Amino acid sequence: MIKDYRTHNMRYLNLPGMMLVLSLLTVPAKTDEGMWIPILIEKYNISIMREKGFKLTAEDIYSINKASMKDAVVRFGGGCTAEFISSEGLLITNHHCGYGTIQAHSSLEHDYLTDGFWAMSAKDELPNPGLTVTLLKRMEDVTDRVLAGTTDEMANEKREGIILSNIKKIETEAMKNNGYQANVRPFFMGNQYFLFVEETFRDVRLVGAPPSSIGRFGGDTDNWVWPRHTGDFSLFRVYADRNNNPSDYAPDNVPYKPGFYFPISLRGLNEGDFTMVIGFPGTTYEYVPSYYIDMIKNQVNPRLIDIRARKIEVIDEAMESDPLLRIKYSAKKAGISNSWKKWTGEILGLERMKTIEKKREFEDQISEWIKADSARNRKYGMIFQAYRDIYPLLSEYMLVNGITGEVMNGIETVALARNLKGLSDLVESRGNSGDIESLKKRLIEYSGSFFRDYDRWTDEKLFVALLKIYGEILEEKWQIPEYRKLMKMSKGDLGHFARKLYDSSVFTEEKEFRKFVEGFGLGSLKKLKKDVFYNLAIDAAELVAKTIRPELGRFNAELQEHNRLYMKAQMEFQDDRIFYPDANSTLRVAYGKISGYYARDAVYLTHRTTLGGIIEKDNPEIYDYAVPGRLKELYASGDFGRYGQDGQLNVCFIANNHTTGGNSGSPVLNANGHLIGINFDRGWEGVASDMAFNPDQSRNISLDIRYALFVIDKFAGAGYLLGEMTIVE
Ligand code: ARG
Ligand code: GLU
Repeated sequence: MIKDYRTHNMRYLNLPGMMLVLSLLTVPAKTDEGMWIPILIEKYNISIMREKGFKLTAEDIYSINKASMKDAVVRFGGGCTAEFISSEGLLITNHHCGYGTIQAHSSLEHDYLTDGFWAMSAKDELPNPGLTVTLLKRMEDVTDRVLAGTTDEMANEKREGIILSNIKKIETEAMKNNGYQANVRPFFMGNQYFLFVEETFRDVRLVGAPPSSIGRFGGDTDNWVWPRHTGDFSLFRVYADRNNNPSDYAPDNVPYKPGFYFPISLRGLNEGDFTMVIGFPGTTYEYVPSYYIDMIKNQVNPRLIDIRARKIEVIDEAMESDPLLRIKYSAKKAGISNSWKKWTGEILGLERMKTIEKKREFEDQISEWIKADSARNRKYGMIFQAYRDIYPLLSEYMLVNGITGEVMNGIETVALARNLKGLSDLVESRGNSGDIESLKKRLIEYSGSFFRDYDRWTDEKLFVALLKIYGEILEEKWQIPEYRKLMKMSKGDLGHFARKLYDSSVFTEEKEFRKFVEGFGLGSLKKLKKDVFYNLAIDAAELVAKTIRPELGRFNAELQEHNRLYMKAQMEFQDDRIFYPDANSTLRVAYGKISGYYARDAVYLTHRTTLGGIIEKDNPEIYDYAVPGRLKELYASGDFGRYGQDGQLNVCFIANNHTTGGNSGSPVLNANGHLIGINFDRGWEGVASDMAFNPDQSRNISLDIRYALFVIDKFAGAGYLLGEMTIVE
């Protein structure tokens, strides 16, 4: 079933006659692959989008002259997207994007993770220090200004220097007197540059979240998998000062009035309907050479997957054993498991699509093309040799870096101990006592949130499990000295030794830790420097800082130059193809249609799931599949009101929009630009799309907005919130 995923390769197949070749070359534009640049939609995409059913204009998506969709889409926190759905600053995003925040407000008394949270009026909304949302004010192609004074032949270092200073100038100018942030970002591996002027809001309050039995239904088991039944949404509100400008949290801030917000469609959706996703996709690797894929797929990720599998085993057991541990570890576990599972799916997908083989074939063809012309050969002739030289070294360092980080940061006591380095240095060098006191204060503050989610017994198990695998998979020459010492001291009984360490260290108990930090002076240094956790942390940090990072930096600087040239060569080689740039956390538009897919031989997965499917999965014995009683009653009553379609209540749907991490929470829009869903995941068979999009199987998974409204209205009784939305029936 799987077609050649890169149709442009076909011009080098032995096809009969030029006509056929030409017609095949137009295929890429039609396969819906791509994360497109908002200001270039008019030029490259709008006619295709309209052909596919889109009813609006490029100006409706991005404009600086009138309100447009870009004014309603924000980067949420570190790595998600959210969108305005009312004139009162009401935001919707995923439950998993608000997860850390919801957890932070949760305790055994107020377990919002388990029970959900609904602010029944403005004064109940919960502030979240540190949480921000960012809006794009405008963007601009600044390639000419960034590259002014550079040439292709120039030594890379000199070139980079000029570019950096040009960028600095552009950014400074763009930020003058407006309170905005400006960033110039490279596109196409540094062949093009865009300026982004953004505004960041700092008072963002939690308005509502369903219980995990809805918002996280299916848990990590269903994660990355279609069919899916997760009600993955949460609601926030952005507050501003009286002039609608960003402000720190203040009780008398007022709801932000966005330039635009999305109307919500209850009109339903069907297979084949046009869909569009606007959001902030994080990182993709569509144009990397086969060497990169080989490194990730065959060398680095398999090891990281093994390490994370151990972590998950230990944490799962703890979470199953105690409701308090479930709360403490929920967000940490979600993060660990999410990438673990994605990497696994990625490897399977790359294998199935034969991505390495196809890239190699392509590299052979482009090498021939480069060689065929002497000017090209002078410019691009070195690329592949350089890749062959650099990648084996890069792979080794990436592996050591990955293993060291996964293991040492995975032991939380070690991660905590590392924070003492600064204080110790300051005290040892007899630093200023004011500095010392303020550092102590910060450490103690930090320890509050650290210990809230820490369990000494679970961490002890992690310590044993992770150091065991560390010794198994990392070559001796890369193992840190403290680990070698520890192995000798523990004489083969790491478990017993670990118990003693955890019993005696100041890093495993909040009160002891505070006492140690508060009284920290010259006399404490000896004790600190004997602490195994501290020494593991310091050795690991040193290995990374002194050996690994400098080398990785060197390889990457070299690669950067070759990548830029390789990207340029690819664009010249395929001069009739419209390229989209890799994701880089800037605003992008993806479009396509609602569509099921063949997952395996004879298995076609349809485009939507329903509440009936949730009931089918119900299992009160399993935390992730226990359906709330109220939802079962609502199902039994069969009354879905205006939220139903064909007698069913849709829960999720899939489409072939090209998305990646960071697109979580992105608005999914219909042909009229009305909100029909919230993007939150991808289907298992297409998870490798960050490196190779497969039109036949790459699908983004979205929550049907009607299920979210149904939950707010009928399940939670927070229907008053619908009053501020614009609902299109
Ligand atoms: N896989 C989705 C993403 O990458 C959802 C993750 C959250 N859900 C979960 N069960 N861990 O963020
Ligand atoms: N769940 C992802 C996120 O948080 C989006 C899914 C994907 O990676 O496509 O951004």
